[in-house]
Amino acid sequence: MISKQNPFSSSREVATEFDQWAKAGRGEKMSVSHRYATQKLLNDLEISAQSVVLDAGCGIGWIFNELIGSQIARGIGIDLSAEMIAIASSRSTRPHLEFLKADISNTTFESNQFSHIVSVEALYYTPQPLQALKDWCRISLPGGRLGLVIDLYQDNPASKHWIEALPITVHNLSVTEWHTLLSSAGWTNVVDRRVPLPVQTSPSEFTPSPYFPNYDIYRAYCEAGSLLLSAQK
Ligand SMILES: C[S@@+](CC[C@H](N)C(=O)[O-])C[C@H]1O[C@@H](n2cnc3c(N)ncnc32)[C@H](O)[C@@H]1O
Repeated sequence: MISKQNPFSSSREVATEFDQWAKAGRGEKMSVSHRYATQKLLNDLEISAQSVVLDAGCGIGWIFNELIGSQIARGIGIDLSAEMIAIASSRSTRPHLEFLKADISNTTFESNQFSHIVSVEALYYTPQPLQALKDWCRISLPGGRLGLVIDLYQDNPASKHWIEALPITVHNLSVTEWHTLLSSAGWTNVVDRRVPLPVQTSPSEFTPSPYFPNYDIYRAYCEAGSLLLSAQK
């Protein structure tokens, strides 16, 4: 069962929230905090010089601009936040990389065109992740690869504080539920793995926040780690 709060945030509310994150420099912070797990995901996906890659919910576009942009044939990053897209575009120095303001759950791309779709910490914000995953299957080439990084999921109980901390609604699914969603959307060879995250602060340096109310929660969150899901069309 999908667990969610109702009513779900509108596209406008999500865009407004992430516009604020972009202006506050949180895009750059995510490029640091999401990097470790994302590198592991990209290693799983066999990206090559022929790859045509979609980054769904690309934020400031660091996956292309800093990690794989020079290694692929074409990259398109999409995000609802105009401010995130503006930063991504301003940092892009390569003509084969493009950043567009668009909704990841209902794209207008032609069918069968991406060899790879990656999405880092974005899918659980969409009201209908199944719809998004079906659409990504449609626009993926036959044999195309999908890779997701999810940090808020039921099997990492320390992440549940984010649900209250975030002013927008989210899905909090289990690993099993994510598996079922991917399979139901038409993806095959669904594989999950968990990547424990490096603990980046000591107890004395730790600052509590609504996301991590104390150090033990932060540590437990890192130990449970990111959920990486990969699949094939
Ligand atoms: C937590 S951030 C992650 C950004 C980026 N992937 C990263 O790792 O730095 C989530 C991103 O997903 C975007 N997003 C959420 N729902 C979206 C939707 N329906 N369509 C497009 N982008 C969406 C947000 O605007 C935000 O930039």
